[in-house]
Amino acid sequence: MREKFQPIPLTDQEGSCTKVPIVFRDTIPELPSTTYGTFSIYKYPAKFIPQVVAYALKKYAEPGMRIFDPFAGYGTTGLVSRIYGLDYELWDLNPIIDIIHDTAVSKPYKLNIDQLMREIAQSNDEFLPKWSNLHYWFPDEFIPLLSKSWGFAHALPREMKRVLLLPLIKVTKYFSYGDEKVHKLYKSKFSKKKISKLLEKDWSKIFYKMLKKEILKLLRRMQEYQGLSPIDVDYTIKSGIDIIETQLDYSADILITSPPYLQAQEYIRSSKLELFWLGHDEKYIKELSRKEIPYRDVKEIEINSERYNKFRDLISNEKLKVLYDRYFHAMLGSFTSLGEKITNRMCIFVGPAKIRTTSIPIDDIIIEHLNEHGWMHEVTLVDTIVSRVMFKAEVNPASGEKDSRIKTEHLVILKKKS
Ligand SMILES: C[S@@+](CC[C@H](N)C(=O)[O-])C[C@H]1O[C@@H](n2cnc3c(N)ncnc32)[C@H](O)[C@@H]1O
Repeated sequence: MREKFQPIPLTDQEGSCTKVPIVFRDTIPELPSTTYGTFSIYKYPAKFIPQVVAYALKKYAEPGMRIFDPFAGYGTTGLVSRIYGLDYELWDLNPIIDIIHDTAVSKPYKLNIDQLMREIAQSNDEFLPKWSNLHYWFPDEFIPLLSKSWGFAHALPREMKRVLLLPLIKVTKYFSYGDEKVHKLYKSKFSKKKISKLLEKDWSKIFYKMLKKEILKLLRRMQEYQGLSPIDVDYTIKSGIDIIETQLDYSADILITSPPYLQAQEYIRSSKLELFWLGHDEKYIKELSRKEIPYRDVKEIEINSERYNKFRDLISNEKLKVLYDRYFHAMLGSFTSLGEKITNRMCIFVGPAKIRTTSIPIDDIIIEHLNEHGWMHEVTLVDTIVSRVMFKAEVNPASGEKDSRIKTEHLVILKKKS
């Protein structure tokens, strides 16, 4: 751990209580906001704020430790680990982590923005995604402009590409029938109206203006992140992997992660448009979707938690019971086997979710189960959500009822028993 960052000492309260309230966003002076620098260059659903990771690292990490996040999503754990000079390994099913991470940790590329904009406009390169529904999501008028811009982007060398891909994704989404207010790709009456209005204007000019603004914004954010003096540590990223079938090659000291939510949240579906334009094909994207927790079938494990059984008995709907089982078997199975290669602590960030009207104490179920597998519960830090980016579906697809949003989030700290 680098010297200029003071570790956070354990408090008396934490020694005596198992649940301690906290406001993570106020705990890290060197991170002035939750969206600072490259911590918010892309809207990833249910992304945790950097302060959660920073807090855990400042409290428990020591120099030379290796940090591991098996459900890394946006890659926040990696970006924070760099600031404290710690090596890291990130995994996720969603391959978009590669682009986000690569862009977020790069030094801003020195470029002549007006020249770049001219080059894009004059480019003869073309790229169209291998997507059977392309014309459902984009009006025909926009396709040549998008094809030319993406053709240009794909032909760029890697370091220049970084500056263009995320801004291009943002603008491409705006020029699609997808409703940007909904995380999943979804055509709404508002987004249809947006496109018909755009078609009445000088949309090509709007496209380039937006793109230029987004590139400049990204460059500023890259600069801000570099101001935190991140270190070129050793890191590994495994993207497009299924946690159920992946092994940790080397041991790690601290696992920090937030697993998928119990309620329906489809990460791949929410990044579908991006993945197609980035060059992935339909077959691959479908394969990824099929592997998402909690929708996929998993090998059953023995779950050592009374609460797990007690809450299972309260679910009468068979479909919801299957979802509940799949969720816990996948998540607890992964933590049980990965835990064998973790030497120090596991910090698991979860929200207390509901099935219909019943609150499921995911954190306590994790604690009970892992206690039987060599992990001692140290403390649970309880934070109240203020503005975390989440799916804003009105109706919870798992229950069919109006979504009562998760109110608190819990960081469970487990220590390896000696
Ligand atoms: C709550 S999100 C993690 C967010 C992350 N903490 C961040 O800051 O962005 C859960 C992640 O689990 C991933 N996931 C779902 N099923 C998976 C599987 N079978 N294997 C690996 N990752 C999976 C999703 O793609 C998603 O990124």
